[in-house]
Amino acid sequence: MYAREKGKRRWFSMVGLISGKNMLVTGAGSGIGRAIAVRGAREGANVIVVDINSQGARETAELVKKENQKAITIIRDVSTAENVKEIVKITYENFDRLDILVNNAGIGGTNLSPVIKLDEKDWDRIFQVNIRAVFLMCKYFLRHMIKNETPRDQIRGKVINIASQRGKTGGAGLSAYSASKAAVISFTQSLAKEMGRKRITVNCICPGTIYTGIWGGATIDQIKGFGGEVPLKYKKVGLPEDVAGVVMFLASKDADWMTGQAVNITGGMIMTR
Ligand SMILES: NC(=O)c1ccc[n+]([C@@H]2O[C@H](COP(=O)([O-])OP(=O)(O)OC[C@H]3O[C@@H](n4cnc5c(N)ncnc54)[C@H](O)[C@@H]3O)[C@@H](O)[C@H]2O)c1
Repeated sequence: MYAREKGKRRWFSMVGLISGKNMLVTGAGSGIGRAIAVRGAREGANVIVVDINSQGARETAELVKKENQKAITIIRDVSTAENVKEIVKITYENFDRLDILVNNAGIGGTNLSPVIKLDEKDWDRIFQVNIRAVFLMCKYFLRHMIKNETPRDQIRGKVINIASQRGKTGGAGLSAYSASKAAVISFTQSLAKEMGRKRITVNCICPGTIYTGIWGGATIDQIKGFGGEVPLKYKKVGLPEDVAGVVMFLASKDADWMTGQAVNITGGMIMTR
């Protein structure tokens, strides 16, 4: 799409990074997921907003529509196969294909409980949402995505999982969360290897401290410095938009030669080779 710049003869491109794509985001009702949904719409994608929280999901869908893109909401807990199968069904009733799957829904990043006091139910629930749901979403959506008709020399689809810095470093009081996010990183690598021949890229993102509702209302000053020293000092913590920008890059053609990677967005807190 091209538009004429107001009052000038020059024409400029309005094509966004993921123009014309259909993108599904789990946990899009708040925080990082909402930022990804809204930025995705700004970059030209239609968005399937999935969340357990109906009010948050509907608010996000309204923000997507304000960007002149199509949005639908699907209110489901993503941690059961029955629900995920329904999410797939509703998605394909509304869209002919899914191009970008963003597995973002996650819990437990701030439940500080040492292993010797950690309740088994909390451990299981964190694993259900943080990794089982990622597995289920990939299992049931990729069956369709591998059939996306795309020229032979082009990528057919993209999966982007939101892991965490904790999946690489661990964290005292965060054993279940950190282990579940390490599993997301490992799952991403295995799936990338499986999906290479199908021309689907699978990457994940490892955010550091990002100011969202997951912190249960704590202030920016209270969470600043949580998890370690951050070399970048020009702001106190990361924001959801910092993650959304990198998700757009991974979802775009510019990242077509990247797969199986775990990209840190931590203000430099993690530096690995
Ligand atoms: N905020 C951070 O500092 C940080 C750091 C590293 C990783 N992350 C990861 O980023 C992702 C997004 O977190 P956030 O900070 O935006 O948190 P958030 O609490 O603001 O958003 C999470 C969203 O997921 C939804 N959700 C939770 N369980 C669900 C389920 N079972 N089914 C469907 N939706 C569900 C919630 O309703 C919520 O809208 C999570 O995976 C989190 O672990 C966050």
